[in-house]
Amino acid sequence: MGDRDGVSGWYPDERDHAGPEHLDAGYAAGYDAKTGLDVESALVHLRRHGLGPETTFVDLSCGTGLLAAAAAAEARRVVGVDVSPAMLEIARGRSEAVEWVEAGFLTYEHQGDPPQLVHSRNALHHLRDVWKGVALARVHDLLAPGGVLVLRDLVYDFEPREADSRIEEWLAGAAPTPAEGWTRGELEAHVRDEHSTFAWLLEPLLVHAGLEIVEREVGRGIYATYVCTRR
Ligand SMILES: C[S@@+](CC[C@H](N)C(=O)[O-])C[C@H]1O[C@@H](n2cnc3c(N)ncnc32)[C@H](O)[C@@H]1O
Repeated sequence: MGDRDGVSGWYPDERDHAGPEHLDAGYAAGYDAKTGLDVESALVHLRRHGLGPETTFVDLSCGTGLLAAAAAAEARRVVGVDVSPAMLEIARGRSEAVEWVEAGFLTYEHQGDPPQLVHSRNALHHLRDVWKGVALARVHDLLAPGGVLVLRDLVYDFEPREADSRIEEWLAGAAPTPAEGWTRGELEAHVRDEHSTFAWLLEPLLVHAGLEIVEREVGRGIYATYVCTRR
């Protein structure tokens, strides 16, 4: 991904949109404590959707590789993909059982057998909607027939007129310090500068990409989990 040769000039450089903090080694070093990922329940969920000894599993936007490394113990092959060299450096130190690849939603080229299971958590919102559409079509084409995408991201599952109250309600529960989670200032920057979109815009993008939404849950109207199968 670092090499932009061969990429059209009108394509975004995903690193420019990855959130500057994710490219920072100090931030990456403290990321595990911040992310609030319950690895065990994420694995239970992934097992329900195909993670197992015959599975090729791709974690797109794997961050520091917490989930990919844990999944490697129970999958045939695991690939962890992220645009951030800093995040991947931590990931590489965590496990040699995972193939770590520096690439993004728009550039990852999968080698070998297609994955039955693709996962992405809290990253698609780094792309504007047009590029979310392109990214989701790429995920569709990457999946093995009948394969599953588990997409977790921050979405706005409410009406535009509710935005003020719903976003304030969300921000009221922000973490007190950056080490423990996302503070109000960080969440404000997320809403202001990043590209989380309304659930009722994201869902047609999933369907249009050729994915069928078979499960949908949106915690607190923000924290979405979609389970989608390749049609
Ligand atoms: C909030 S972190 C989430 C990391 C991990 N998935 C987790 O749940 O802990 C967002 C991650 O997405 C990565 N990222 C941002 N834009 C990306 C893109 N276009 N393609 C792939 N990864 C991207 C960042 O480098 C960062 O590691």
